[in-house]
Amino acid sequence: MVIKNLRLVNFRNYLTANFTFHPQLNLILGENGSGKTKVLEAIQILALSKSFRTNVDADIVNHNESYYQVFGEFEGIGESEVNLNVNFSKNDGKKVFINKYPLKKRTEMVGKIPTVILSPDNQNITGGGPAGRRDFLNRILSQIDREYFKQLIEYRTRLLQRNSILVSYKQKRKTKYDAYVEANDELLTKAAEYLQRIRFRFIEDFNPVFQHNFEKISHIQKLVILKMQFNVNTDDADFGKTFLRKLRDRFPKDVEFGRTTCGPHLDNLIVLLGDKEIRQVGSQGEHKVVLVALKMAEGQFIQNRQPESVIFLLDDLFALLDERHCLKIVDEISRKNQIFVTTTDAGLLKKYGFDESNPEMKIIHLSKEES
Ligand SMILES: Nc1ncnc2c1ncn2[C@@H]1O[C@H](COP(=O)(O)OP(=O)(O)OP(=O)(O)O)[C@@H](O)[C@H]1O
Ligand SMILES: [Mg+2]
Repeated sequence: MVIKNLRLVNFRNYLTANFTFHPQLNLILGENGSGKTKVLEAIQILALSKSFRTNVDADIVNHNESYYQVFGEFEGIGESEVNLNVNFSKNDGKKVFINKYPLKKRTEMVGKIPTVILSPDNQNITGGGPAGRRDFLNRILSQIDREYFKQLIEYRTRLLQRNSILVSYKQKRKTKYDAYVEANDELLTKAAEYLQRIRFRFIEDFNPVFQHNFEKISHIQKLVILKMQFNVNTDDADFGKTFLRKLRDRFPKDVEFGRTTCGPHLDNLIVLLGDKEIRQVGSQGEHKVVLVALKMAEGQFIQNRQPESVIFLLDDLFALLDERHCLKIVDEISRKNQIFVTTTDAGLLKKYGFDESNPEMKIIHLSKEES
């Protein structure tokens, strides 16, 4: 996919704004607070009907207004046009329209506009706790496998249901594992089985892509590996039985804690640099380069598994890598995909040889006054 233009209304600091993009390289230049990240956020909202920055749509609405709107015109393979529109109002909630028709479920949208976003918030992937890495994994798998996304939602729904049962049983001082709990656990297990199977395969397929991208952008002579620590660590064939047994055995404890203490929602993904976990030993530079390699690999992985071309949204990329590697990445991606890179540094663009007069790119200038 390629986004041709974008229109924002009451979106964060933008009251109204229109952008026309280049099908290959777009460099968004502007001082801090001028709205660069917001442009990427808006594209992401169209693609996933969800922001990468917040789950609260009301935060996105301009402080003085009661609603926001985002419109985008995309072109896909075979020059098919997709018009997307996300409207959110503080009174009526969110509505998404695809070619003017209301979208019934978010699952319909997922994967249609494949995107990769690299933002400063992503530092938690290599540096933070397991939740950030699980999000990373779920985002990739959801974009290439709609069934995965559906099962993930199903799993979360069943888990919430189970946790509310646990809390109510605790209040009633009930600890007996009964048929009601078992029925929910069976549904939870069905969804979990799918997640586990796909995650297992993902790790095997993703590592070579990750390693290849890491070698391309770094001088570090160490091997990177992504490892999955499964909370229910068992073979495919036994998973269902083992998980159900675990849920049953732990039930009294789970009632005491008021939450479910086993299952794929507790899987951990670790990133090894050499034989050490980067989270514990990585230098600042190593974190940056590993993060970019993960994101490049994400893009390539998604690209190879579905027909549409992936849109790369790379916030402040130039702050993460040295000149040679930045240029290499931008050059490689922009040959095949549409890419957006933000920066505050006009001098850097000049130094890197990016030029307004080059027809293969567009430099979009933002200023606080205009927005
Ligand atoms: N709901 C909102 N209403 C009005 N303004 C907002 C809202 N949310 C955020 N802003 C403002 O929008 C501006 C643009 O932020 P944005 O993060 O896009 O800037 P940026 O150009 O990426 O800056 P930086 O270079 O620091 O990353 C900020 O000044 C922020 O305070
Ligand atoms: Mg920013």
